[in-house]
Amino acid sequence: MKLLPIFAATAALASSAHAWAPSSSAPSRPFARLSMASVTEGVDYAVPERYCTDHPNNNVPPHIAALVGRGLHTKADHPIGIVRAQIEEYFNSLPEEYKIFDAEDPIVTTKQCFDDLRLEPDHPGRSPSDTYYITDDTLLRTHTSAHQSMHLKDGYDAFLCAGDVYRRDEIDSSHYPAFHQLEAVKLFDKADMEGADGLTGEDWTKSPECETIAADLKQVLEGLMDHLFGETEKKWSEDYFPFTEPSFELEIKYQGEWLEVLGCGVVHEEVLDMAGRGDRRGWAFGLGLERLAMILFEIPDIRLFWTEDERFSSQFEEGKITKFEPYSKFPPVFKDIAFWVPEGFVENDFFEMARGVAGDLVEKIDMIDEFTNPKTNKSSKCYRITYRSMDRSLTNEEIDALQDSLRDKSAELDLEVR
Ligand code: DAH
Repeated sequence: MKLLPIFAATAALASSAHAWAPSSSAPSRPFARLSMASVTEGVDYAVPERYCTDHPNNNVPPHIAALVGRGLHTKADHPIGIVRAQIEEYFNSLPEEYKIFDAEDPIVTTKQCFDDLRLEPDHPGRSPSDTYYITDDTLLRTHTSAHQSMHLKDGYDAFLCAGDVYRRDEIDSSHYPAFHQLEAVKLFDKADMEGADGLTGEDWTKSPECETIAADLKQVLEGLMDHLFGETEKKWSEDYFPFTEPSFELEIKYQGEWLEVLGCGVVHEEVLDMAGRGDRRGWAFGLGLERLAMILFEIPDIRLFWTEDERFSSQFEEGKITKFEPYSKFPPVFKDIAFWVPEGFVENDFFEMARGVAGDLVEKIDMIDEFTNPKTNKSSKCYRITYRSMDRSLTNEEIDALQDSLRDKSAELDLEVR
């Protein structure tokens, strides 16, 4: 299944070679001057019991709960932390002061994640097939936008917030159920927006004030891309997010290909209203840190960010973008599994089960065949699972054992293995 449009700025990407070019567009300030703010001070997020509960609608499996609290975005010598620091360095060079958050609770409410951002009650992003629920109204954040309202309510006018986000999704080299995003919001001075006082809908979006905000947003983000990638070709297109109007996506030219790097827009007046900031106007954006890190460091598989293998971690140093040297190319093992699917079959449930059984040894799952028996009207699907370890060779016996337990577990999802 493809990503939903509201969740455009994710980790998805293919990797390849890139020459890191240091930017001249933003003078750097020492990291020591960054102000860090943790919201739930003193709470240890790395406690799986916070996420796997016995609530009947809890759908967080242990292998996901185990990832929460790793804090890759706060590690100064991890590619995710290095990219985050480069982004903060750029924002620290701008005239406005951006408050920096990096330790909000990954558990948010449905109100924070969806309602406050104008996601309709029947929006597919709310579905338990896409989202990890702790209880009926609390969940693992699916995007860092979930923190916008809280910080706006608390009175911040310009802030960045970075964190780990969680989505049930397909499995391949650029999709992982946990990844990292960085969000930013900037409100404009009231005095500069007076001409647009009280305007809503098209009256607002067509106003010169709204155009000023959109132009500033684009300029800031183009500067950010130059800071990260050196001078690059960029392309803006219109997009849709329920929380911004107008909305845009930014693509950059990378090795001859256009790559989508972020989603952004002018914050919808209703979002500001709901946060008690209806007297202000501003912009917001959200980007996927894995996507940027995969390009900058040439990291070919998203699972690598989570590995604790020394051969990975020892390659990176605070403040430096270096090309990743693959330390292994172990051969893949392919296994197919075919089953009759029950009505209401949710593909993500199957993907999740495979990860539950084989963890990060699952590199990719592709559906390779599908048909419906015209007599019985039953549908069959066949999936090819690519098993490959980042760290070692796999034996046939261990993969056979994993595939056997996958077959056994399939019964739990009412899948009738053929
Ligand atoms: N939350 C969006 C996503 O996950 C990204 C995004 C788009 C964030 C537009 C924003 C924004 O702040 O204005 O795909």
